[in-house]
Amino acid sequence: MKKILVTGGLGFIGSHTVVELQNEGFEVIIIDNLSNSKIEVLDNITEITGIKPKFHQLDLRVKSDVKSFFDTNKVDGIIHFAAFKAIGESVANPLEYYENNIGSLVFLLQEMRDRNIDNFIFSSSCMAYGTPEKLPITESTPSNKAASPYANTKQIGEEIIEESCNSYKMNAITLRYFNPIGAHETAKIGEFPTGTPQNLIPYITQTAAGIREQLSVFGNDYDTPDGTAIRDYIHVVDLAKAHIVSLKRLLNKENKKNFELFNIGTGKGSTVLEVITTFEKVYKKTLNYKIVNRRPGDITAIYADTEFTNKELGWKTEKTLEEALSSAWKWQLKQK
Ligand code: UD1
Repeated sequence: MKKILVTGGLGFIGSHTVVELQNEGFEVIIIDNLSNSKIEVLDNITEITGIKPKFHQLDLRVKSDVKSFFDTNKVDGIIHFAAFKAIGESVANPLEYYENNIGSLVFLLQEMRDRNIDNFIFSSSCMAYGTPEKLPITESTPSNKAASPYANTKQIGEEIIEESCNSYKMNAITLRYFNPIGAHETAKIGEFPTGTPQNLIPYITQTAAGIREQLSVFGNDYDTPDGTAIRDYIHVVDLAKAHIVSLKRLLNKENKKNFELFNIGTGKGSTVLEVITTFEKVYKKTLNYKIVNRRPGDITAIYADTEFTNKELGWKTEKTLEEALSSAWKWQLKQK
């Protein structure tokens, strides 16, 4: 049984990936510092899969702790989620973002180099493309300047990984996610937004649940069919499965280059109003929302070209936007 280290394995995407790994027969070791996750997630994963993953509460910024972890644990691959992810916070405090997102990455790669550990999967974002010049975005679209320190940590992180792959003969895959949403069908794991949600789906479900009074739609004067901005919303379980396919590609040595990049999206863009209308089908009521000004820093549209990922990685999304929104709503109802 292959042993896989999942950093940030109690977080939103991490926990769903741990479930899929265990379903596929991998032995999972989680590292998480609980900075943006809850320890109960470990029990919830265990309830879903019937297997309790090994867990180490550890901060990857502490190099000596990272070293001691690898002194006592042998792994066949690493999926690296542990990172900060709030864009506004990264603008307010860039150095925290560089220390956490880049520092930890470097420590992990150093251990991989020193112990000949191979097979690294990196959790990246479509924001690493910068503002796109042409849509949909293919993997060969050149990256523009990152719009925030957060996005920059993904761009720089990928460069560090690519250079390490070239110099130390490692193999890595970076996955550029579009907008991950939804929750596990059991509603035992999902996303816990801290404080007021910044993202669209948690804001919608909290409004429907009566926690927020009204959703603000940020701008209806964009150059799109209904004037609201377009994103590519992907069900988190589909996204989690992309990690399993990527991991197997590396373990089976099917990768074509030692550093590969894939878009992980549905290929379909939806406007904010389309998301609201689809949610209303699931909710069976109308949602209280108003149109307000654009949110600074938002772009008009971004969605994936999925052809390369579909063909080369042999993965594509299976779930619809409605299924994703329905799972998010089921999860929200369990939080009350
Ligand atoms: C999000 C994530 C980013 C991730 C990226 C991948 C944050 C803050 N952003 O960005 O980390 O890399 O997806 O694409 O975590 N909207 C409203 N009202 C709201 C909230 C959002 O109208 O209350 C609109 C936004 O203006 C945007 C769309 O909904 O047009 C999606 O917003 P959001 O869920 O925040 O995602 P992104 O900004 O695309």
